[in-house]
Amino acid sequence: MKKTKRLYEGKAKILWETDSPGRMIQEFKDDATAFNGVKHEIISGKGVLNNQISSHFFTLLNEAGVTTHFVEKISEREMVVDRLEMLPIEVVVRNVAAGSMVKRLGIEAGRRFDPPIVEYYLKDDDLNDPILSEEHVTALGLTTHEFLAEMKTAALKVNSILTGFLEERGIRLVDFKLEFGLKDGRLVLGDEISPDTCRFHDATSGRIMDKDRFRQDLGGFIEAYNEVLDRVSS
Ligand code: TMP
Ligand code: ASP
Repeated sequence: MKKTKRLYEGKAKILWETDSPGRMIQEFKDDATAFNGVKHEIISGKGVLNNQISSHFFTLLNEAGVTTHFVEKISEREMVVDRLEMLPIEVVVRNVAAGSMVKRLGIEAGRRFDPPIVEYYLKDDDLNDPILSEEHVTALGLTTHEFLAEMKTAALKVNSILTGFLEERGIRLVDFKLEFGLKDGRLVLGDEISPDTCRFHDATSGRIMDKDRFRQDLGGFIEAYNEVLDRVSS
């Protein structure tokens, strides 16, 4: 398979058109950004780790019957994916209070949610990805009631699969973000699933093993991502 054209370059990934119809190559970069790109650093090796971690998670989900865009990992930094028409929505699932939710609502970090909370955000950097209600999603025409319901069911299924898998490896899945798209009129999970897009805490010590190490200048970033990869591949 050959890359033919750069279709899109984001903060952490490049999407390439290929000579294989309906297939793209997703390339993981070493760029780390936070606060809508305000904080930016190149962290050597991050892309390689996220490609491996994401490939593991997508394989697990494909095997569990979740429809994802993932086809195969083809190099250190690249995976082949199905070409989707992405919905401009970020779906966040929260098992434990952290991050923006703690700031917005003034609640204590660490509070558990059972059942988990599903949130939607508009993917729009100029507006700083504002939070949306389900009614906003449909009223703004971002997707249909049917796809919204399907997306929520899929997000909760991903949560229960990943929570169980990670629990066995001593990792608490605090929260994560998913992005979906359409292919031939069907809803498909796209993007990536990595420590850039999830919060992972060590189940015993509570140690942060995700991009919060970068957001909060905690150090030990690559070590934490390496540790996630080690545990996920065991
Ligand atoms: P938040 O607490 O900042 O809203 O983040 C919730 C989850 O979504 C967390 O696991 C990190 C992830 N996330 C992204 O993947 N991309 C983003 O741009 C943001 C803000 C969060
Ligand atoms: N991904 C976002 C950014 O690049 C925010 C974040 O993950 O914290 O700024």
